[in-house]
Parts: sequence; C-alpha cells; structure tokens
Amino acid sequence: MSAQEKLKKLIELREEARLGGGEKRIASQHKKQKYTARERIDMLLDDGSFEEFDMFVTHRCTNFGMEKTKFLGDGVVTGQGTIDGRLVFVYAQDFTVFGGSLSETMAQKICKIMDMAMKVGAPVIGLNDSGGARIQEGVTSLAGYAEIFERNILASGVIPQISAIFGPCAGGAVYSPALTDFIMMTENTSYMFVTGPKVVKTVTGEVITTEELGGATVHATKSGVSHFRLDDEEEGIMIIRKLLSYLPSNNLEEPPIFKTKDPIDRLEDDLNNIIPDNPNTPYDIKDVIYMLADDQEFLEIHRHYAKNIVVGFIRMGGMAMGVIANQPAFLAGVLDINASRKAARFVRTCDCFNVPILTLVDVPGFLPGSGQEYGGIITHGAKLMFAYGEATVPKITITLRKSYGGAHDVMSCKQLRGDLNYAWPTAEIAVMGAKGAIEVLYGRELAGIESDEERSEAIQKYEDEYVEAFANPYKAASYGYIDDVIEPRNTRFRIIRGLQSLQTKKVLNPPKKHSNIPL
Ligand code: HXC
Repeated sequence: MSAQEKLKKLIELREEARLGGGEKRIASQHKKQKYTARERIDMLLDDGSFEEFDMFVTHRCTNFGMEKTKFLGDGVVTGQGTIDGRLVFVYAQDFTVFGGSLSETMAQKICKIMDMAMKVGAPVIGLNDSGGARIQEGVTSLAGYAEIFERNILASGVIPQISAIFGPCAGGAVYSPALTDFIMMTENTSYMFVTGPKVVKTVTGEVITTEELGGATVHATKSGVSHFRLDDEEEGIMIIRKLLSYLPSNNLEEPPIFKTKDPIDRLEDDLNNIIPDNPNTPYDIKDVIYMLADDQEFLEIHRHYAKNIVVGFIRMGGMAMGVIANQPAFLAGVLDINASRKAARFVRTCDCFNVPILTLVDVPGFLPGSGQEYGGIITHGAKLMFAYGEATVPKITITLRKSYGGAHDVMSCKQLRGDLNYAWPTAEIAVMGAKGAIEVLYGRELAGIESDEERSEAIQKYEDEYVEAFANPYKAASYGYIDDVIEPRNTRFRIIRGLQSLQTKKVLNPPKKHSNIPL
C-alpha cells in the first residue's frame, strides 16, 4: 500500500467509526428524540476541542456469533476536550452499537479516560444511554462495571464527576452515576432502576410503568437520585457546562473566579422588608438568594426534592459559593429526613471541591413525629451536622429569622466552626418557639386557670415575656455566638467582604483514615 492509500484507509476507518451502529440505528435514535453519542459530545465541548481515543477498539466476544458483528469503537465514544477552555474527559455511550451495552473493551475505554483524568486532575463527564451489561459477554461485562465503579469511588472528592442520563440506565449500571457528584435525567427519554417493571411484576406483583418506576420526575422529586430533571438533552448540556463553572478541575485547585460588573456593595433595600411581621407568615428564600447573588444568578440543585431546603451555586464578587437555605415557603422550612440528606450531601460536595458555604437560616426546628423518628431523623440530622462540622471551607452563616433548638446548632452555628455568623435584627435564636416554650414552662399553671379569658391573657403575657427575652439575636450576640447583627440590605457586602478575608483560611482536621459519618 502506498502512503496515500494508507492515509485513505485511515480516513475511511474513521468515517466508519463515526457512523457507530450505522445510519438506520442513528435514524432510530433520532426518532426517539435522542441525539447520538457524537452529537452529544459535539454539543458539550468547545468547538473543535474534542480529541477522541480508542476509535479502533472493538469487542473481543465470540459467544453467540458475536465475532461476525463488530463496530469500530464499540458502544462508547471517549476522549478529551475543553469546556470554557478548561480540560475535561468525556465518555458517551453509543446506543446505536448493541444498545450501548457494556462490553469488556468498552469498560476498558471508559477506565482509560478516567485514569487520564485522575492523572492530570480534570473532571469526567459520563453521558449514559445503555441497555446495561452486554448480555453476550456475561461476567466480563460485570467485571468491567466493577472496574468503573472502583474508579468512580477513588476519584470521588478528587475530580468532579458528572453523569447525564439520556436513555436507559438499568440494573447494576445505575451505580456508576450514583457514585458520581451530580446526576441529571431527561424527561420521557431516560430511566434508572435497579430492576425493571417486568421483574418488579414477577417478584412483587406490582404493576408499574417504566416512567413511574424510574423516570426523571420520580428521581427528581421522590427518590432524590437525580439532581436535575431536564426538559431535553440541550438543557442537560447547558447544566453540565454551568456546573463546571462553579467547580475547580480537582480538589487541589480553587474554583474559577469570574469578573462581575455587579457592585460588591450593592444595597438591596427590599431585603429590609422581606421578613413579615408575623413569624408564621412565609416568604420565598429564593428571593433572598437571587437578591444576594452576582447578577441574580443561581444554579439550583435538587430543585424538586425536599423543597423545605434550597441548595445550589451562586457567585459573590465573582467567587463561587454553595448556598444552603431553609425555605419558609415550604413546610415552614422545617428540617426533615430528606432535607437533611439533601443538604448534607451538598455541604460535602462543596467542601471537597473548595467551594465556600453560605448558610441562610430560617428554621423552626426538626419535623416531629413517629414517621420521622422511625425513618431515622436522628441519623440523618446527624449527617448534616457532621457535614457542617467537618467542613473546612469558609463558612458564612446569616440568620434571617427563626433558629430554634437542634436545628440552630445543625445549621452552621458558630460552634460547628462557622467562620462568620451574622444575624438580621429579625432573628429569633432560642431553644424553641414561644408557644411550645410556654406550654412546657407554664403548662400546669395555665391548666389551673379556669376562665378561658384569663388563661388567654396569661398565655399572652408569658409569650410576650419569652419573645422579649429570646426572640431576637441580641442574646446570642451578647455571648459572641453571633459576630454581628447586620442590616439586611447590607448582607451582600458583608458576605463578600467576609469571603475575601477568608480566602486564605487554612483549617485541617485531625489525621485519620477517614471519618465515620452517620450514613
Ligand atoms: C446486548 C443489547 C442489550 C444488552 C440492548 N441490546 N440491550 N445487546 N446486551 N444488554 C441491543 C438489542 O439487541 C438491539 O440490537 C439494540 O441493542 C437496541 O435494543 P432495542 O431493544 O431494539 O431497543 P429499545 O426497544 O429502545 O429497548 C432498549 C432496552 C432493551 C429497554 C434497553 O434493549 C432492553 O431491555 N435491553 C436489555 C436490558 C437489560 O436487561 N440489561 C441488563 C441489565 S442488568 P440490534 O442489533 O437489534 O440493534 C445489568 C447488570 C449490570 O446491566 C451489573 C453491573 C454491576
């Protein structure tokens, strides 16, 4: 073969590889409102930045006549590229090749880019669309999964790992995304479950559809498995790119700083009026977050799950921050099992990637009741406390209104190594609310008052006394538990100034193999 012919062959092979499972299967993929693996990578990465690896890898299976059907690259497209100029590694399962099912060689391709990503300290993005283990390969496919899982585990907390589910993701295959930092799912075209509807029906008799069992809505609202519910793949691509803008490339770097024209000392007069006079009247904490953030931008995570707590990323003075905020507009912002788990996970995500934490507190306490106790609210609440107490990133806490009981301690109080703890004049920091406290302290005395009118008057008197003594930030401030009581409209400035001074914060936890967080 002449050099020219060899070149021609290379070009032909590349073209063949780019076709994956062929035109027919590509058309069928499009018919399902899904993009192909290569189209997804094209949308995700900066133009022209993709460098593909292992285009000529094929499977090595000879069972069931498989040696007759091989596709260049097999069922996954892997490589590196850039997002906003920063290096990332990516793999996209190719549903047009054996339904994207995982072969031994596919696993090797994925592991190769994960190893590269760890060597150079860059994020890994997995675009999932697969029928699971390659049935013809049997146990070598399972071993391949385990190779990926182990790498997911070792990479956790070192490099960001993001999983987009753009198609099927079933059986043990769900555990690779589950081991990563963020999962997102497209509505109607993706699903995740450990066992599908047919097995469910056989084993338990339950009749349920794929969507009801493991669709995007289920995992975004009920299970919390998915951090984002996507209208379409384009939205997913946009969210991956946004997420990375708040994160460093690895745990030894700081998150990127973005220049902003939003003035650091922007006063938000509306914040002075946002807390209603009646302590039981809700308001939307997201309004506060938007008013504080640079350019009113907030990337909310787990938006549809445990809405009584709000978490997500903002920038303050160009610096990335993770926000954790009780939401008075949903269940009065109470802490329950799901809210504790959601927030704990986010605190740890921020901490491992050096993202400072802003905590906005308006919490009436933990949700009472047998449902919560039986479900282990003690363990789950402890999880959030543990996450906050262990975190060494800069921690700034603003108490807006209620901060009661155990929930006060959990929500990044001073003694859990809060760096700056500010309160608004509307803050109420106490063991419990006035009503509950009066019941405990004066219950017997009040029961002895026969006249309803006199009892009501006594309750009012005691409540007024309690509110006067405790429903304010000054008691806590007098002990130094609150560093300052600040004017709400000035909050943005105080946070940014605090963040600037905390840039050089260095705190190390005692040496240990790892902590034993209550899981
Ligand atoms: C080999 C597979 C495959 C698989 C799909 N295909 N799944 N080949 N192994 N697991 C092939 C099909 O034969 C078909 O090939 C092509 O992919 C497209 O599949 P279709 O069925 O035509 O597509 P669709 O109707 O969209 O259905 C997609 C699907 C279905 C729902 C994913 O294919 C399916 O149920 N597959 C089996 C899923 C499964 O049970 N996997 C094992 C899960 S357990 P042709 O040549 O016709 O295009 C598991 C364990 C992991 O994964 C454990 C890790 C620890």
